[in-house]
Amino acid sequence: MNAVTTLPLDVESLRRDFPILQAVLHGDQPLVYLDNAATTQRPRQVIDAISDVYETKYANVHRGIHWLSDQSTDLYEEARQKVRHFIGAVHREEVIFTHGTTESINLVARSLGDGGFGGQGGSLRATAGGFRAGDEILLTEMEHHSNIVPWQQLAARSGAVIRWLPITDDGQLKLDELPALLNERTRIVAVAAVSNVLGTINPVAELIAAAHAVGAKVLVDAAQSVPHQPLDVVKLGADFVAFSGHKMLGPTGVGVLYGRRELLEAMPPFLGGGSMIRRVTRDGFEPSDLPAKFEAGTPPIVSAIGLGAAIDYLDRIGLPAIHEHEQRLTEYAHKLLADFPGLRFLGPEPKHKAGIVSFVIDGIHAHDVAQLLDRSGVAVRAGHHCTMPLHKRLGINASTRASFYFYNTLAEVETLAQGLHEARDVFRRQKK
Ligand code: ALA
Repeated sequence: MNAVTTLPLDVESLRRDFPILQAVLHGDQPLVYLDNAATTQRPRQVIDAISDVYETKYANVHRGIHWLSDQSTDLYEEARQKVRHFIGAVHREEVIFTHGTTESINLVARSLGDGGFGGQGGSLRATAGGFRAGDEILLTEMEHHSNIVPWQQLAARSGAVIRWLPITDDGQLKLDELPALLNERTRIVAVAAVSNVLGTINPVAELIAAAHAVGAKVLVDAAQSVPHQPLDVVKLGADFVAFSGHKMLGPTGVGVLYGRRELLEAMPPFLGGGSMIRRVTRDGFEPSDLPAKFEAGTPPIVSAIGLGAAIDYLDRIGLPAIHEHEQRLTEYAHKLLADFPGLRFLGPEPKHKAGIVSFVIDGIHAHDVAQLLDRSGVAVRAGHHCTMPLHKRLGINASTRASFYFYNTLAEVETLAQGLHEARDVFRRQKK
């Protein structure tokens, strides 16, 4: 076996933890789940943790009111500590539970972007200044819509201008164009750590250093990175980091916003309601301290606890091994498909990529590719993957994407390649 066909993890044993990975589709096709960038599957340990809360420890989180509430509050706060530790944050107040990456980014765009009124002292009081006309927001051409649209909405509200860091034809950021795009008007740089389509691992630390040199803040969309490779928010120097629980074995409906404490303290609340206030009068309100200030209403209690269980599971395997495993799968997919007639990979060489392999095939629409692969039990995503500007930049409308996690095997990559050959044969026969 050569380097590409050996794997660092005991995948067969890990797979036994995932009930859904035992599924057989269409009568006799074992499920080959390669849609992990959209959402991952859950191991028994996470499912059990969720059931256990509902069966024995579930109540709303308001400490000190009754015993059951203390149980769920403890578990919820324990989950926050697990997240804090997982990403290397110093303070628990820097970990805000949201409903997902999208909400985390919207929180920053609204709260930092609008600035405005924090409501301190029982009356509304102006806090950190929001974005103004002429301020600049720097995005990259490979961003997901969730890291574009909130900034477009902010630009429409404030008159701020969006600038775009371009990419090369092979899907890497053109860092040489960064100096011309950053200046003292740049208020924020919002960038994906890993592209959800190209798989490109971006040089985020370098971007952060350049942005900070002009006084800009940086938001890292880490939805495709935190589940797969180590990320230390302090070492990275990030101001904000957003990610989702459901892409890292956790339940849907929970996400995280990490923010540097002094920034979050200066920002006004995002959503108003219960739990985020210390006091409300007819004239105004006084917000709670962090993190409650940004967690209005009943938070995603059980989902956050489930995310904590997911983090325990990931910690046991270790992110470095997970990352290495996925890179091997990516290399193997590139190797098997290198000579596939009419297939073009999107994004760079495997060594610059995470476990995401997107491609187009001449003469076969991405949706047809995905439907034909489904006949072989292979689940992939097809379409624009919430990156229409990126697809336009690449001159295509849609692509097919296979995305891996640590429970995928080399044999599954072979099934993908085999399924693509069969899809091509179907199309050739139809054309005759
Ligand atoms: N953001 C997810 C994806 O890229 C849904 O598929």
